[in-house]
Amino acid sequence: MPIRGSINIPGDKSISHRALLISSLIPGEHNIKNISTAEDVIYTLKCLNNIGIISSREKNNIIIHGGTFIEPNQPLFCGNSGTTMRLLSGLLSGLKLEAKLMGDESLIKRPMNRVINPLMQMGADISSNQDCAPIIIHKTNSLIDLNYSMEIASAQVKSALLLAGVSSDKKVVIHEQYQTRNHTEIMLDDIGYDIITKDNSIIFNPTLNKPNNINIDIPGDISSASFFIGAACMIPNSDLRINNVLINDTRMGFINILKKMDAGIIIHNPRYINGEKIGDIQVYYKPLYGVDIISEDIPSIIDELPILSIVATQAEGVTRVSGSEELRYKESDRILAIVENLKRMGVKIIEKKDGFVIEGPTILNKATIDSYD
Ligand code: S3P
Repeated sequence: MPIRGSINIPGDKSISHRALLISSLIPGEHNIKNISTAEDVIYTLKCLNNIGIISSREKNNIIIHGGTFIEPNQPLFCGNSGTTMRLLSGLLSGLKLEAKLMGDESLIKRPMNRVINPLMQMGADISSNQDCAPIIIHKTNSLIDLNYSMEIASAQVKSALLLAGVSSDKKVVIHEQYQTRNHTEIMLDDIGYDIITKDNSIIFNPTLNKPNNINIDIPGDISSASFFIGAACMIPNSDLRINNVLINDTRMGFINILKKMDAGIIIHNPRYINGEKIGDIQVYYKPLYGVDIISEDIPSIIDELPILSIVATQAEGVTRVSGSEELRYKESDRILAIVENLKRMGVKIIEKKDGFVIEGPTILNKATIDSYD
């Protein structure tokens, strides 16, 4: 059955988390339009409400009253959301209050030392359960400026540090080896903060300019769109248009790789809203070819590698993914989940420590799929 027509996608999840967290730190009334409908974002909002942030919601539009916090009288529950836990750890570190962060069965097994270590370098006082949640952010008088070279490619870590900069009013300089999604930098810049990005380094000085009331309009989520894009690429006679979707370069890995596979993709009406690039994406069926995906491609395709693996089963030739060990530390081990489920469907796939190799094309068998929660 071809995929044809025109759709809109709910607001981008990464930008939604940031819109809530950043606006909570700025005194005043802030408007966020088209917020993500994802459960993870609701956890971020609930945690903020539990530290005193007042919000009101009408459909997907939210008003946040920022700038006044209270110490929570219960643990802040982040559900399954690593972004909530890591970014909130940064925000809380500079707030001079004590808070405990908890998560579900999967989240409490995920590594938190990646944010705890640099935040402690900034002077935060944090305890954890052997580098995992529950995390307790203890009250500290004041943080210090930070100059930090990232040890792993992680937008969550980078953003946690920038949020600690906002909440503590301290300067933060970060050097990245590979550029990761840059929504925090774009949003801070767009609302009027002094932030400079140059050659994979970020220099953020929150003491210089202070934003006032902010309005953020969130574009469609390119990661959610990727499932429809993948389907339209693989199914003959498809021709699909996705309107008002984020096309920020740091999130375009999937589209760029599909183009290398010779997929039919055209971007219409590129434009900017709140500093973020958005556009309308047209995807139509064309025969696809295998491709190599290497370390430097990974940050911009990290959440789309599962759907890319399915597209690769329908491409002529070999698709090799390497340098993607980070996939093993997500909500589930995504390499294992991909390999196990595609094997069940009859795909020729080999598991590697840092990725997988798929030989296509394959006619997929019916199978029972394990979603690994
Ligand atoms: C995210 C960053 C990525 C991504 C996650 C959302 C963000 O995680 O996989 O879904 O919003 O900053 P890492 O920072 O762990 O790579």
